[in-house]
Formats: sequence, C-alpha cells, structure tokens
Amino acid sequence: MIVTKTFPSLIAQPKIWFHRQLFTKREAANINKELQKSGTIPYETIPGPSKLKVLKYFLPGGKFHNKSRYYISRALYDEYGEIFKIPGSFKQRDLVFTYNPKFFEEVYRHDGVWPSRTALETLAYYRHKLRPEIFEETGTLLASNGEKWGKLRSIVNPIMMQPRTVRTYAPKIDKTTIKYIERIRKVRDPNTLELPDNFKTELNKWALEQICLVGLDSELGLIENEHIDNEAQKLIQAVNTIFGTVEDLELKPSLWKYYETPKYKKIIEAYDILTDISLKYINDATERYKSIEKDDKQNENEKSIVERLIKIKKKMAAVVSIDMFFAGVDTTCTATAACMLALAKNPEKQELLRQEIRKALPERNTPITEEKLNNLPYLRATIKESIRKHPVIHEIPRTTNINIVLGKYQIPKNTDIVLNTTYYYNDSNHFSDPDKFIPERWLRNQDQTNISVSGCPVTATKPSNPFVYLPFGFGNRMCVGKRLVEMQLEILLTHLLLSEM
Ligand code: HEM
Repeated sequence: MIVTKTFPSLIAQPKIWFHRQLFTKREAANINKELQKSGTIPYETIPGPSKLKVLKYFLPGGKFHNKSRYYISRALYDEYGEIFKIPGSFKQRDLVFTYNPKFFEEVYRHDGVWPSRTALETLAYYRHKLRPEIFEETGTLLASNGEKWGKLRSIVNPIMMQPRTVRTYAPKIDKTTIKYIERIRKVRDPNTLELPDNFKTELNKWALEQICLVGLDSELGLIENEHIDNEAQKLIQAVNTIFGTVEDLELKPSLWKYYETPKYKKIIEAYDILTDISLKYINDATERYKSIEKDDKQNENEKSIVERLIKIKKKMAAVVSIDMFFAGVDTTCTATAACMLALAKNPEKQELLRQEIRKALPERNTPITEEKLNNLPYLRATIKESIRKHPVIHEIPRTTNINIVLGKYQIPKNTDIVLNTTYYYNDSNHFSDPDKFIPERWLRNQDQTNISVSGCPVTATKPSNPFVYLPFGFGNRMCVGKRLVEMQLEILLTHLLLSEM
C-alpha cells in the first residue's frame, strides 16, 4: 500500500526557462506600426506594474521579497487579470504573462516550424560565451532557437520520441526500479509504512539514475549504494545547486550582468561540473562502442540513444545528455512524487489500479516489458490525473516569431511570453469536480479496461478545451522526454502495486 504524510512538500515549485534578446528602437517602432493597422490596442497598454514598482516589490520588505515565482505570478494575476506585463530591468527584457487557454492556442498556432523558447539566461550565456567549443557547433535543445535548434531536433526526434527506441530501455529501467522498491522498503517506517521526511533525496537519486542510464549509458549505483562515489556526488550537488539558484538569477532583478555575483559564480561552477562529468561519461561510452563496432550486426533501433547520437557526432551526444539533466531530473522527481501522493491519498483508486495491473500481469516476478504495459489504460489515466492534481511545470515560455494579437492586445514579433498553463487545472469551468482525483476522466469510451469503472462519470469530467491541459507542451517543441518519463512512471507504479508493500 502506498501511504504518505510528507509528500506535499515534495511537489516542486514551478520551473522556468528564460532567454532575452534586445530589440533596436527602430525594429520595435516598425513592428508597432504594422500592428496598429489591425484595430487592436498597442503592446504598451498591456496592464502590469511599472519598473519602479517591480524593484520595490523585490527589495527587502517588499511584497515579493523572498517569494517564489509561482507566488509572484499568481499575485499579479489576481491584481491585473489574464494578461499582464512585467517590465524588464537591468538589461532584462519584458515578460508577458498569460492565463487564458485561448491565448495559449493562439501562441502555439503561430509557432511556425521552429518555435522559439526563451532559455535560462545564465545557461545561454554559459553555453554561447563561456563554453562555445562544446555547445556552439551543434546547438542545444534547451538554449538554441531557429534553424540550429530545428536541425538538432530533427535528429533527436526519431531517436528519443520513437516508441521502438524508448522501449529498448524497459529492461534497464525495470532493473533499477526493482532496486528502488527495495530501497523504499528499507527507508520507510515499518509500523506506519510512511516514508521519511527526507524522501526527496531518494527520489532525486532515482530520477538521476534514470537519466544517467538513458543520457550517459551508465549506471551510477545511486539507489542501492549508501556511499556513492565522488563523481556521482558532485553530479547530484551540481543539479541541486542549479535548481536552487536559478530563480534568484533569472526572475528577480540581479546584477550578475554587471559583475560576477556569488550566486552567478556558484551556478557557473555547477554548469561546469555537469558539462565536464557528462563529457567524461560520453568519452567512456565512445571508447566502449568503438571496440564493438567491428562486428556490429545490431539493429539500428536496438541501439541506445547515446550510441546512435555518438555515431552522428560525439559532441551531439554530450549536449543532448546535458539537456536531459536539466530538463529531466527535477521533472521526473516531481512527477513520481505526484503519482505516489495521488495514489496514497486515494486508496480506492489505488485499488482499482492494482486490479487492472494484477489482471494484466498475473505473474508477479517476471520482468515488466513495454509490451506488458500496452493494455493498461487506467494506469495511463492515473498518471495524467496525478499530473493534473500536482502539476510538474507551471509555465511554458515562448518568444513570438511573428506579430500576433492576444485578446485586444498587439504582441510584436520577438516578445517573451509565459503561458501559465496549470491555472485552470483546478477550475470547474474546465474540469468538473476539479478537486477530486478521477483518473476515469481521461479514459476514452473505447478504452478497454479490464476493471469495473462503471459509476464513474467518464466523459462528463473531461477538460473543456485541449489547450487547458498541456503538461508536456504542444507542437514541434514539445517535451522530448515525454515517452521516456511515461514509461518510467508506468514501470514504477506497476512494480509498486504488484509488490506486497
Ligand atoms: C513528467 C515529466 C516531464 C514534464 C511534465 C515535462 C514537461 C516539459 C515541457 C512543458 C516542456 C516544454 C514544451 C514546450 O515548450 O512546448 C519540456 C521540454 C523539454 N523536455 Fe520535458 N518534461 C518532463 C520530463 C522530461 C524528461 C525525463 C526529459 C529528458 C529525458 C525531458 C527533456 C526535455 C527537453 C530536452 C525539452 C526541450 C525540448 C526542445 O526545446 O526541443 N523532459 N518538457
């Protein structure tokens, strides 16, 4: 039985990406002229606090001092409504926040073939200015835009988004998951079955081990070993430092562009550690694959993601794996916590899921393969509903590639927009009974569950509009790790519910 008391604290705060490019005044004037012809009102009229007000907000004693980005964004929504602007200061650009699913659709529909996303500014600086020898040639998924991003993504898509390739990881993921279940047994309270308050560390190790398996073709032994080696320890610390410092440098007014602040130095050091250790593992993997290349009869689809990328370009394998660390560790950790928390709080749904899994997999001790997971619609619905109840990513950033109009406001090309995609997850206008955990709302009528879910208002509780629920984004730039993380969660939940916990 999955039980918990401490999980809510594990549900992480929102993640964000930033990247800001400055506009010349003439470019801005031309763009505005063009938009004014459309009968809408200018960008400058979008409501929001002034620059001075923003500075005051963040100073000690100000209403946003030491507050999370999530808190700040929601407070400004309450004050200004579904669209507002935070003017940039200290060489930062403006940010337009939107809270309307119709606006999300508008932004996504005008994304073009190469959607632009604002990347973390310190990350973009580190990659383009400090380590161009690694990152410039191939570009990166997270911090590049335009054709460079398009070329890289078209190589990565068939490798990471193809079910056949992702499926090859099932046995490895299965193996680490079994170890993880053992670990859970070991750390929980034998009487109450509750997990300890520091369970986040265990979740972190689990997520990191998964990314190392896929992104570096290496097992670090983070789950089973109490004492992990120095390099793995450094990797964990670097990932934690990045997520712990990034908000202060990227959202709040910061002077790092004028001088090297202590937090800036800390994050750059962490970027270096992550880059150098990843490169070392990729070099090791390259040597390994060289030695087996001669009698290589293996089907291309059965090769690992790393092996296939190394074959194209070694540097490409390295930059993609580094992006996986950025985008994959914290998200996997939060999504795992979300599913475990939702099931722990809803034992009757947990029981339904257990029935489905036990019927599909009557032999408990055989390895879980991707094929065995094929017909488990209630499991998939449970994961979707868990992420609705406990969202992983609250904001998706975009930079407009063309002039658009949101509501009555003109949004010029090259504006940074933040789509606050999770606000409506709890709104009864979009999801009926939003407070309840109802995996059934995601089942299609034709889904063949082999359990009885009758009595559940299946279609009545579906979201009202497809742009209301976008956990992995939408379109050409949607999450590249979606298939992988879904499979990881499916394997973990299957093991958890099959084993006599
Ligand atoms: C439940 C877990 C996860 C969630 C909810 C999630 C969500 C997202 C979202 C919302 C985006 C932005 C999409 C857009 O701009 O439209 C994204 C991008 C991305 N994600 Fe994930 N993600 C998850 C796990 C992962 C994992 C495990 C990996 C790596 C193995 C990963 C790698 C990436 C990468 C590299 C991008 C950038 C793609 C690009 O710009 O081309 N994500 N993710």
